[in-house]
Amino acid sequence: MTQNTRIDAAPREKLVIFKTANEASDAVATHMLETVRKNPKAVLGLATGQTPRRVYARLIEAVRDGAVSFSQATTYNLDEYCGLPGTHPDSFAAFMHRELFDQADFSKDHINLIAGDAVDDHEEVHRYAKLLQNSGGIDLQLLGLGTNGHIGFNEPGSQASSRLRIVDLSDDTLESNQPSLIELETVPARAITMGIADILDAREIIMLATGEAKAEAVRRSLQEPASADCPGSYLSQHPNVYWYLDAGAASSLGSRG
Ligand code: GLP
Repeated sequence: MTQNTRIDAAPREKLVIFKTANEASDAVATHMLETVRKNPKAVLGLATGQTPRRVYARLIEAVRDGAVSFSQATTYNLDEYCGLPGTHPDSFAAFMHRELFDQADFSKDHINLIAGDAVDDHEEVHRYAKLLQNSGGIDLQLLGLGTNGHIGFNEPGSQASSRLRIVDLSDDTLESNQPSLIELETVPARAITMGIADILDAREIIMLATGEAKAEAVRRSLQEPASADCPGSYLSQHPNVYWYLDAGAASSLGSRG
């Protein structure tokens, strides 16, 4: 068994700052493993991006070590680019298969992904929203934070009441995400994302933010009143949200701005 196996380590700190991104990621993996060990049928909300990659690597290791099984767990992903089929290497669906699903023991039937290449995006929103409604609710939602404060693809301007929908991506986001989209000349400018209200419906939320580039978004999310200007700030309205930061992401906390 790798990592620590703290299973009943309550009460948890709601904001924990680690020296390094690796330590923060390992702590998130431990938190998620505890959840699934306690409730093997847990419904997990999953995120993409560079930030959770080490978390997923740790989950895979835990499966390989026999420390956990995801065979009864169900997953829902937060978002997807419109227009990218799941077979496209830059789709979030392909990311999830590469970084987690194909190397762990998830049951295919319990993996829920948004189809970026659906013939009708509105129909796809309807289909996925129905799946979410029938899920019994997400037990644990993992989130990352955009440099502009977005969560999922809920860009600044997103309302607290927003639900699963098609969104236009901001220039900031298009720019930040470009380096990962190696095979595309341009990043798709639209996406389907779970809304703020969908995210806040989760029973428990983990936010993992690492690196100085996230420091300002972290500060605004934690220290400014909840508002559409910084969607991460809506998390303050949830009773059960855990922030895992590294020193870089936490570097603006405490300063007034
Ligand atoms: C993307 C995703 C988000 C993610 C964010 C941060 O736009 N839609 O869910 O949290 O970017 O990505 P990264 O972890 O690569 O910084």
